[in-house]
Amino acid sequence: MRTLISNGTIVTAEGSSTADVLIDGERIAQIGSGLAAAGVTADETIDATGRWLIPGAIDVHTHMELPFGGTFAKDTFESGTRAAAFGGTTTIVDFAVQSRGKSLREGLDAWHAKAEGNAVADYGFHMIMSDVNDDTLAEMDGLVAEGVPDFKLFTAYPGVFYSDDGAIFRAMQRTAKNGGLIMMHAENGMAIDVVAADEVAAGHTDPYYHGVARYPIFEGEATNRVIRLAEAAGVPVYIVHLSARDALNAVRDARDHGSMAFAETCPQYLFLSIEDMKGGFNGAKFVCSPPLRPADHQAELWQGLVKDDLQLVSTDHCPFDFEGQKDLGKGDFRKVPNGLPGVEDRVDLLYDGGVVAGRITRERWVEIIATAPAKLFGMFPRKGTIAVGSDADLVVYDPTATRTISAKTHHMDVDYSCYEGRQVRGRSDVVLSRGSVIVRDGEFTGKKGHGQFLKRAAADHARIS
Ligand code: URP
Ligand code: ZN
Ligand code: ZN
Repeated sequence: MRTLISNGTIVTAEGSSTADVLIDGERIAQIGSGLAAAGVTADETIDATGRWLIPGAIDVHTHMELPFGGTFAKDTFESGTRAAAFGGTTTIVDFAVQSRGKSLREGLDAWHAKAEGNAVADYGFHMIMSDVNDDTLAEMDGLVAEGVPDFKLFTAYPGVFYSDDGAIFRAMQRTAKNGGLIMMHAENGMAIDVVAADEVAAGHTDPYYHGVARYPIFEGEATNRVIRLAEAAGVPVYIVHLSARDALNAVRDARDHGSMAFAETCPQYLFLSIEDMKGGFNGAKFVCSPPLRPADHQAELWQGLVKDDLQLVSTDHCPFDFEGQKDLGKGDFRKVPNGLPGVEDRVDLLYDGGVVAGRITRERWVEIIATAPAKLFGMFPRKGTIAVGSDADLVVYDPTATRTISAKTHHMDVDYSCYEGRQVRGRSDVVLSRGSVIVRDGEFTGKKGHGQFLKRAAADHARIS
């Protein structure tokens, strides 16, 4: 099958130009102006006049079916990758989970079983390590070799995913040898639990107090600590879902001093604030960790993106229904499952709040939603750009369309939207995954099981030699 996408403005991280793109099978075969006029033939031509052609976006932080707080994140690999595709995201990297006492292998096999035959677009895995011991450390080497080269550890969630500094340092030492990358959820979970217990004892049980108890300084302290540990081990470290200026300051200082510190933020920290957590139990819709911050943190996060102290934006997509899941925490905010839906909205939110609002260029937008994720997570240049030989993961994007975000129309399997009623400019009109059109004009045209596991390269590119 050959597809010609004609007359679009190609936007990549490097620049923009008007040209045609010929897809042959699953790959980009040719890029040039006037290909059709020059006699290039195709089975289908998509006219992209007046629209942009961008690389399929990549979300490197999702949690399909994550077990949390006695329930499971609601999107499956089928519903989650389908919703992602509607929003222009054609690759996700999800977190496989090692349960306490089990092997990494068991966790990874379970995630392969969830995804294979179900995902409608390509996917890779990172590995959540709940235990760091001789066996799991040895297993890390094998995972790096089989294309799962990143390991998430937590200074948060004591008793669940929490690792102490010694465990984190041992895992980092291992990545110095095997080339893997440690990803850190950096919040001081021990201190947070003290404040959270104090709040509950004072009768402050509403979801809002989830936000109150998780002080920004607890994120700043843990971020600084894990970066220092990574420096001691001589390895890069990647801070996930950075939410607070305190943490951003730690990352910026480290980078200014030559540290191999990398970080992402998420749309919820750029567009929502702790004020959204008010209003009684309705605030449970916004319970995630780290929590939403006072609105004055947002401008600094945008600056972080402009200056590349933050390299990319992922979603941390982890959806729980308001009715039947979030309500597990009625009467005690500590029992609200942590996580927000978002995989469908990231591309448009970032376009609207970033490019349309004049904060970033369209090239930087493509970089933070597609190219930087591909580079940092071992998928470039197969993914994350528009180049001959790259996978034909492409989005025909209408920069002038407007839409209203709503749970009534979104495709994520969750009963609310964090952005209900918000109008955004920008829309993914045609979405291709490896040459197949999987979304066209608001209709799903893809196939369950089309998505393939992506064996990703180790994180050597993140190391400063
Ligand atoms: O609240 C969140 N972020 N839930 C998902 C799990 C995690 O820590 O990333
Ligand atoms: Zn986390
Ligand atoms: Zn997460």
